[in-house]
Amino acid sequence: MRIDKFLSECKVATRSETGKAVRRGQVLLDGVPVKRADTPVDPGKNVVTYCGEVVHYRRNTYILLNKPDGYVSATEDKKEKTVLELLPEEVRKFDIFPCGRLDKNTLGLMLLTDNGPLAHCLLAPKRHVEKVYRFECAHAPSESDLAALESGVDIGGYVTKPCTVRMLGETTGEITLAEGKYHQIKLMFDAVDNRILYLERIRFAHLTLDGLARGEWRYLTDEEIKLLEEYGN
Ligand code: URA
Repeated sequence: MRIDKFLSECKVATRSETGKAVRRGQVLLDGVPVKRADTPVDPGKNVVTYCGEVVHYRRNTYILLNKPDGYVSATEDKKEKTVLELLPEEVRKFDIFPCGRLDKNTLGLMLLTDNGPLAHCLLAPKRHVEKVYRFECAHAPSESDLAALESGVDIGGYVTKPCTVRMLGETTGEITLAEGKYHQIKLMFDAVDNRILYLERIRFAHLTLDGLARGEWRYLTDEEIKLLEEYGN
């Protein structure tokens, strides 16, 4: 692969930016400035440095965000603040979008990526990607409410798939779903005459927030990406 293609796939620089950086001697291959933007690179073997920073080969961008209250899961919205507004411009330029939706008042773990095909796989019901939410509901669910939630309830013409509910207190608990219908958890609790007061996603597949503060974001680690990309195989 050419070094200018490598840098543009890594979203580090456009081809014309690479051309200029090459002329300034700011693009190094294994520590040596390259003379041409079409210099071949082996991403598995060579170390590329752009303007003093080592560039790790990565075709796609993956961001983990701890969504605060009051943001909508969209790339643009005429009235509301979007989760994209929580990211700096240099990250937003990667054309990333939320992988799945959280309601405006739902908090917690949100994955954003520019990898459309993988996002599609992660959200496909047949992949059974687990999502875990912490909730608080209006009153203590009975044993039969819990059994109904776990075996499946009708949320308006659709019967939810089996899930697990683990109560942590009288009205607080964790629910693990392997599907994601619009407003699913709120509608499930409505279906057993209860009401969700608080909802926070704490896990998506193997991804957890792990100390990431509300409103903060980070790139996924290489190990997290490797496991996530297996869902695309
Ligand atoms: N279920 C809901 O009801 N809302 C969410 O945001 C996510 C799951």
